[in-house]
Amino acid sequence: MSKKPWSGRFQENIDKFFEDFSESVSFDHKLAPYEIKASLVYAEALKEAGILTDKEFNLIKKGLKEIEKEIKSGKFIFSKEYEDVHMNIEKALYEKIGETAYKLHTGRSRNEQVVTDLRLYLMDECKELKKLIKSFMKAIISKAEEYYGVVIPGFTHLQHAQPVLFSHWIMAYYEMIRFHLERLRDYEKRLKISPLGSSAFAGCGFNIDRKKIAKKLGFKDLTKNSVFAVSSRDFVIELLFILTLIMLDLSRLAEELIIWMTQEFGFIDLPDRFCTGSSIMPQKKNPDSAELVRGKVASVAGNLFQLILLIKNLPLSYNRDLQEDKPPVFEALENTKKSIKMMALLIEGLKLNKKNIEPHLKKGYLLATELADYLVTKGIPFRKAHHITGEIVVYAEKKGKTLEELKLEEFKKFSEVIEKDIYQWLTIENFFKRREILGGTGYNSVKKRLEEAKKEIERL
Ligand code: ARG
Repeated sequence: MSKKPWSGRFQENIDKFFEDFSESVSFDHKLAPYEIKASLVYAEALKEAGILTDKEFNLIKKGLKEIEKEIKSGKFIFSKEYEDVHMNIEKALYEKIGETAYKLHTGRSRNEQVVTDLRLYLMDECKELKKLIKSFMKAIISKAEEYYGVVIPGFTHLQHAQPVLFSHWIMAYYEMIRFHLERLRDYEKRLKISPLGSSAFAGCGFNIDRKKIAKKLGFKDLTKNSVFAVSSRDFVIELLFILTLIMLDLSRLAEELIIWMTQEFGFIDLPDRFCTGSSIMPQKKNPDSAELVRGKVASVAGNLFQLILLIKNLPLSYNRDLQEDKPPVFEALENTKKSIKMMALLIEGLKLNKKNIEPHLKKGYLLATELADYLVTKGIPFRKAHHITGEIVVYAEKKGKTLEELKLEEFKKFSEVIEKDIYQWLTIENFFKRREILGGTGYNSVKKRLEEAKKEIERL
């Protein structure tokens, strides 16, 4: 059994079961590249503070670089005996360069190391996330352009409501996701602050240059309270909240794709390569890819909740509970990144079945609002116009006709003000002409927003 760094204080060896119970290296080894990076910068700060000689610093640097290479090539062996990523690397350094390795921990605590590593790791993850989100947004724009002009029934309560351009409907997701990108940007302001120099929680007892360390590591600012620095996990919870929001929107889109691919709708087809069959029913083609995205939301939202509960009632400063923050973050990031990619692929491969959509436009009295609006232009107050239109819809339904199939005499039974010009109103073309408002589904409005979005995405 290896000696623990704290063995001086202890009269018996650690219990084997507890050793295994308490280790974190099985998951926090993911932080190894950041541990090395931060250690290199910290060692330099110790040198500049006169704690390490040039020779010692160079030795530590050389050792850490070797370890870095071993980790990259997969040769490095992480051992549970050394508990976490920090002590595994320290132990490896000792094996390479001897006692000098132990000087690296001067004034430093794992409590600050772990938050430093985690922040650096999340900074890289954010970069990757933003890239993925952008390609997803581009996929939406391309699909909206490809099917520009295709009209689908729009829904409220999953009931036919009013016509809408498919491009407009799908671009709603672009707008949602755009805000998540903004959220991530804003979040990065609070993420990119360096805790190094906080030590266990009271601040480092040696005169190291915190500002210089932060700058070298790519942080934008410093934590201004060492207790806060090692205790807070708000930066993890906030990210998971954003991930949950992203996933919620993806799950709504996934749900729509699933519904649209049913025999009942038949609006879309998804490529075979993203679907699965059944082991018993030979005819089946199932949209499992979208279903899995919908399913993974549960996991990401669960991860968020796990973290919220982890922090609740936790006294300051560092407590070992905090070690449990990493698995949910890693898992949530993995699932969210994969889901964004999956949805981008689905959107790229999606095909609209225009022929199947057309008959749906005749159902559900999509133009009833136009009839009510027409009555308004003839001086009837909207509430009354709404009522009259409702009665006409019931009548038409009984007759098995669409609104535009009703005769003028039939209309007149409900309202004298209705004239021949009603038929111009009851067309899909007219509906869209009347929706050229900023943010509306008019052809020009949608085109304009698409053009804007294409430029905007390059700037984002
Ligand atoms: N493995 C620990 C974690 O992830 C590192 C910090 C340990 N600090 C301590 N005082 N035991 O939180």
